[in-house]
Amino acid sequence: MITLGIETSCDETSCAIIDDSRLLSNKVSSSVHLHSKYGGVVPEIASRCHIEYIDGVLKEALKEAKIRLNDIELIALTCGPGLCGSLLTGISYAKALSFALSKPFIGVNHIIAHMHSNFIKTDAAARGPHYPYIGLVISGGHTNIYKAAALDEYELIGCSQDDAAGEAFDKVAKIMGLGYPGGPVIERRADAFRGKDDIHFPRAYLEKDSFDFSFSGLKTAVLYYYKKHKRSKTLIDKISYAFQEAVFDVVRDKTIAACRKFGIREIAVGGGVACNSRFRETLLSQAREKNIDVFIPDKSLCLDNGAMIACFGEDLFKKGKRSDVLLTAEPNMPACWQERRSSYAGVL
Ligand code: KG4
Ligand code: ZN
Repeated sequence: MITLGIETSCDETSCAIIDDSRLLSNKVSSSVHLHSKYGGVVPEIASRCHIEYIDGVLKEALKEAKIRLNDIELIALTCGPGLCGSLLTGISYAKALSFALSKPFIGVNHIIAHMHSNFIKTDAAARGPHYPYIGLVISGGHTNIYKAAALDEYELIGCSQDDAAGEAFDKVAKIMGLGYPGGPVIERRADAFRGKDDIHFPRAYLEKDSFDFSFSGLKTAVLYYYKKHKRSKTLIDKISYAFQEAVFDVVRDKTIAACRKFGIREIAVGGGVACNSRFRETLLSQAREKNIDVFIPDKSLCLDNGAMIACFGEDLFKKGKRSDVLLTAEPNMPACWQERRSSYAGVL
């Protein structure tokens, strides 16, 4: 089945084509360069850029996949969570395309799609995780741990009480004048640190057995440390290194603890922060010691992309899920997750 995936939840406009989970193309056009001077995403700029970019991105995706518009059999799109105007651009575009081509469409949840990116078949990834697995989404908007019982059954078991991990990277980068987005530059500066690890920032493990996160105390600790210490050539490298370790220790330990609690031996990770090599290395090595398999997609599939939307939408469609013309943007997390009630099926 040929599926088009459309992603426009934040500042990346992406269209991808898959054929029964096999990746044929994945094109992304980002407006990040227009946001960097503001230190974060400006919603109005992001949604206007989606309108400008989306036609061209779709054309490129079709070309690389070597298919025509009419070959598309299903249109999958992100309808939440995300920025309302950005989401609406993708939703309207998908609905118009569906109407013009007489092909069905399905709106899916962006956060689950990040975990589901581990089911995309590429040369490097032959198989995805088995259910049940523990899902970790570590992105600019979320740091969530899930128990994924089935394709359409996700229970939120932990999330950030304040900043998401990626948001903490972005804010810490801003404090040190490193620009936006903060993740890649903090990773580079941390890599450049070649000294003795002499800063120890706090790790917020919260209550015993809690799978929730809090990174705002860590961010404040970085702020005070940076203000108090004399600028030297290595100060930023040193802080970046210590900050990264503090975030990753907690995320890694809680994800592995969730496996232990539920007796699960597979972890599937997604989200922009999972591009970080130090994070990949620390999670993989600790999990290996505990006999747990970790699935993390290629870095290009960790950041926001249409392929994960196509893959999740296609699998849900094959299970009989559909959306109709009343589908609209859902900017916030589903209410059942906000209230920690029952599990959620991922289709909107
Ligand atoms: O998943 P994503 O593209 O968008 C959301 O759904 O939020 O993630 C973007 C986030 C940003 O906060 C960015 O700073 C972070 O991912 N990020 C990184 C790295 N690359 C991107 N964080 C740490 N290390 C990286 N290499
Ligand atoms: Zn995302």
